[in-house]
Amino acid sequence: MSSNRTRLAVLAAAALALATPLAIANADAATTPTTATAAAAAAPAATTYTAAQVLAAIQQHSTAATQVNTKPHINTMTRAQNVNVYQPATGVFVYTSSMAIDDDGSDPDPDPDHQGETTFQDSSGAQLAAHHVPFYVLGDDCWDNKTPCPHFFYKEHGISGRQFALVFYNGKAIGAIFGDTQTGNSQTTSDNDSRELGEASVKAASLLGIPSSGTTGGVDNGVTVAIFSGPSWVVNGTNANLSNNAQAMVQNALNTLGTNLAGGTPPSSPPPSSPPPGSTLFEAETGTLSAGGTFDSNHLGFTGTAFANPANAVGAYVDIPVTAAAAGTKTLGFRYSDGTTAARPATISVNGTSHGTLNFPITADWDTWSTASVSVPLKAGANTIRVTGTTADGPANIDSVTVSQ
Ligand code: GCU
Repeated sequence: MSSNRTRLAVLAAAALALATPLAIANADAATTPTTATAAAAAAPAATTYTAAQVLAAIQQHSTAATQVNTKPHINTMTRAQNVNVYQPATGVFVYTSSMAIDDDGSDPDPDPDHQGETTFQDSSGAQLAAHHVPFYVLGDDCWDNKTPCPHFFYKEHGISGRQFALVFYNGKAIGAIFGDTQTGNSQTTSDNDSRELGEASVKAASLLGIPSSGTTGGVDNGVTVAIFSGPSWVVNGTNANLSNNAQAMVQNALNTLGTNLAGGTPPSSPPPSSPPPGSTLFEAETGTLSAGGTFDSNHLGFTGTAFANPANAVGAYVDIPVTAAAAGTKTLGFRYSDGTTAARPATISVNGTSHGTLNFPITADWDTWSTASVSVPLKAGANTIRVTGTTADGPANIDSVTVSQ
């Protein structure tokens, strides 16, 4: 906790009863309870959730009803006193704030505030290595000195050293562990306060693409930390493998939290009431399909009268007629669904000319629709857009395409 840079934060917290996804061989070190050993191996959640889906669900559940703190925390970078902690699901505590850079521990660092010790250690008792282990920082005491603490105080919520968290930033989610604490100490170059939230290690920053220098790095806002409490979510390992161990837990954590926040039902995006401003929507069912494809209506959320279900084969396609008011480069936005576990890349052709491959990443299920976009040249008037699957699964289900005008 070497930084006094300011930061701004928004937080959301959720708690879950979760089973550990990772059985860890090493005995726990002195700093954490030993109850974390191979707890019930987690049955992977049935549905695969993306970081974006889980973050959106967290935000929906971060309301006054789920707020944990009654007094605001301080954004470590901006020092704005506007960070709250939410518990959107049992056992998960979430906040959104800055990321200031903590370079403490056994890795050398030129920061004048560098300290050789972290609050918690790896499973062999070594100080954590800020350049190798993605860890986050919480206040080390209840600033108000009251019980229950008006602020979020980790010791009241089943959170121990090396507690797993998902850290979201800029579309990504990484796994991190609770590694260090923020205290009102006497560092000459810092203005520390245990109410601060929004600091993490050099490694956490670098995994998320955030400038990671302990003296000049960090971001002021937009980093969401979702802490999974309880002994089964304590991560064991050494400085050499703690990062890998934490990353190995990410998808299961996303699936578990996503399933929990959706009440067992994956989110379904509502049909758009109208195309984006400045664009025109063309329904896939006005087009034609290669052999084996069908226009279906057996999944929820499509617009118009049907969606295209192209055949499951390399080269299977759907042709969609569109018009452009004038010739030029236009953005095509395909509304699609892929309820499997594998993306469905497809070649996009215009009037018989290929313009490369567009990826169609998975969606939560066949009732959930997402958009994949690509820019292509169109001529004035009528054009035919062909979406051709490049894998044996064929293209995704295609509901419509919008054309920017
Ligand atoms: C399922 C789903 C279809 C989809 C198909 C596929 O059968 O119901 O809508 O097109 O899988 O894998 O392409």
